[in-house]
Amino acid sequence: MPRIFSGIQPSGSVHLGNYLGALRNWVSEQHEADCYYSIVDLHAITAEHNPEALRDATKELATTLFAIGLDPDISCLFVQSHVPEHAQLAWIMESTVTFGELSRMTQFKDKGRGEEKVRASLFTYPALMAADILLYRTDKVPVGDDQRQHIELARDAAARFNNAYGEVFTVPESMIPKVGARVMDLQNPLKKMSKSSSSDAGLIYLNEDPSRIAKKIKRAVTDTENKVAYEPTNPAKAGVSNLLEIYSALTSIPPEDAADRFSNYGALKSELAEIVIEHLTVIQSRIKDISGDPSELLRLLKIGAAKARATASSTLSDAKSAIGFLAP
Ligand code: AMP
Ligand code: TRP
Repeated sequence: MPRIFSGIQPSGSVHLGNYLGALRNWVSEQHEADCYYSIVDLHAITAEHNPEALRDATKELATTLFAIGLDPDISCLFVQSHVPEHAQLAWIMESTVTFGELSRMTQFKDKGRGEEKVRASLFTYPALMAADILLYRTDKVPVGDDQRQHIELARDAAARFNNAYGEVFTVPESMIPKVGARVMDLQNPLKKMSKSSSSDAGLIYLNEDPSRIAKKIKRAVTDTENKVAYEPTNPAKAGVSNLLEIYSALTSIPPEDAADRFSNYGALKSELAEIVIEHLTVIQSRIKDISGDPSELLRLLKIGAAKARATASSTLSDAKSAIGFLAP
């Protein structure tokens, strides 16, 4: 079975972009592959953060991941800081990639822009992400489109390390879904739906109240033409194309065919709202169930960390030996 690894940051609540672009595929892959999934709290401190909020977000994210269908008997779900090998291999990765490579990462340029106190870890973050992936000798990494460049860097780092010191790492491949890879902001459909967005009117959260979901979809920005057409490369139709893409991701009806079903934006929006709400209320009721037993959640995360450590420590020890560290 191929090995899969992916990670998500515990910062803010999970939104529809995370779900359709990445998390849903985590669940569908668990029967096809040997899956390791991590709540990457080390990544979450690369930007200003609040300690209590981080702890709460970590628990909330674990709850959500089990609620969307991750099965702890099949998949390994763990919190990154419970597995110290990540930080250790990250140092070796920082000594494998170059300053020039890190400087070219577009996410660093976007997130760092205009910030007065950019943490050093925001700059070196892709080296930690490479370590995350390579520790598990990962074949495939399911992520949204925005992570493509980071996976490329992990591939380059693996190949370079293997070339210089001997075959230790598997060179991973990204797995980017065809629909849902880029869910756009409902208020600004030229920007991706993101928790760092200034207003949350353009985001739909997985744990959001159905009436708010309906309102947000109803108010989604479209255009004045009132012609339902899927034209993803036409900026003037970005809003309606995004709604059709979300519709398609949830129904498996291709977006072009979905467009033919609706004669105006109002009809598309009301059916889309119904479908999104139907989908999310199932998840929300599972979130409620799981939240009722916090000690069970911690127990499952402990089992996940133990399993992850067993794999990670073996790879780390091979990497240390290859690079020339003296065994203790
Ligand atoms: P983040 O919220 O940035 O930590 O992202 C977690 C996962 O969700 C990553 O795999 C991202 O690629 C994916 N993701 C985030 N935002 C979107 C979006 N708007 N559309 C599709 N995928 C997304
Ligand atoms: N950087 C990813 C994001 O912001 C999260 C992440 C960290 C990740 N480590 C990873 C994703 C390893 C895939 C594999 O979304």
